[in-house]
Amino acid sequence: MTAILEARNISKQFGGGLFQPPPLTALDNFTMKIETDPPTITAVVGESGSGKTTLAQILLGILPPTTGELLYEGKPLKSLSKREHRNFLRDVQMILQDPYESYNPFYRVDHILRMGIRRFGVAKSRAEEQKVLVDALEAVGLRPEETLGRYPHQLSGGQRQRVMVARALAVRPRVIIADEPVSMVDASLRATILDSLQTLARDYGVSVIYITHDLTTAYQIGDNVLVMYRGVVAEAGDAELIVPNPLHPYTQLLVGSIPRPDPRRPWMEEQQPSEIGRSADPDKGCKFANRCPHAMEMCLEVQPPAYQVDDHRVASCFLHREAAKSEATDLTDVFVTPKGHESSAAD
Ligand SMILES: Nc1ncnc2c1ncn2[C@@H]1O[C@H](COP(=O)(O)OP(=O)(O)O)[C@@H](O)[C@H]1O
Ligand SMILES: [Mg+2]
Repeated sequence: MTAILEARNISKQFGGGLFQPPPLTALDNFTMKIETDPPTITAVVGESGSGKTTLAQILLGILPPTTGELLYEGKPLKSLSKREHRNFLRDVQMILQDPYESYNPFYRVDHILRMGIRRFGVAKSRAEEQKVLVDALEAVGLRPEETLGRYPHQLSGGQRQRVMVARALAVRPRVIIADEPVSMVDASLRATILDSLQTLARDYGVSVIYITHDLTTAYQIGDNVLVMYRGVVAEAGDAELIVPNPLHPYTQLLVGSIPRPDPRRPWMEEQQPSEIGRSADPDKGCKFANRCPHAMEMCLEVQPPAYQVDDHRVASCFLHREAAKSEATDLTDVFVTPKGHESSAAD
């Protein structure tokens, strides 16, 4: 079956033009597929600057890649007909970090939701439109009578963020890309929003790309996780394998920096780079070498490929070269199908 979206060997560089700083590679030879049958939640994790937003914008077709291609239903974005392009715009929706910034303060919630419904001709009548709108709000745990008719500033931060999810859902997309949707809200709201993202996948058949700098929430809702470091994939695959037992030194660092209940353990057990790693040129070889406690000579010279270390994980690290079965070209080959859907993937 054709994936709804496919990033094929995509790289994105910024700058490097005349009178500009030297080029910066925000995304480096990135390949993955997004499937919707069954719907899955993929969590993209990495610290600030790792290329997550660049990836999101490329998948949404907002940002053109420098090299490589984005395919929608098997066709390059550039070759889509007008009608296909419209389907793409409807099928792939986004949820942003700060919903307040993206709302027009003079529009009521109804209007915000109706715009998308009308733009994509989701409803055939007024009555149907109302139903789509109410369903979308209820799907994200909002009460229509408490939300409709209000202006964005009359809602709490959590309500606003859920309206964003409802707005995306109302156009009946097949993929939702959520770029740090909970980083601006407090812990109690975080749980409800993450819940509504899970509802999208479970009950509405929408595949979710959940982007975050926080490994804890990635583990909480991701079927698969994809750990990014400076534009490259450090480790990817089954969340149940990676988070409890990370193999890449960068993932180990992320896991190590999750606050633990034991007060005797320091929050950040910052690893020290190895003697060799300290001399690493950050633009050559493994991008993590200058922070890596295990860096070896070869890490300074060659960028490690994505080694498939078992059926459901890849790790781009020479430490795992011996144990690897092969080098993976498409990360998604190792991804797991969410529980309860194992058989439908083969249909
Ligand atoms: N429009 C841009 N122009 C120049 N550099 C950019 C631009 N957008 C992002 N970058 C750079 O690309 C890298 C990745 O950024 P980004 O994708 O925003 O990462 P993240 O979302 O993981 O924080 C960063 O080093 C950032 O400074
Ligand atoms: Mg970002």
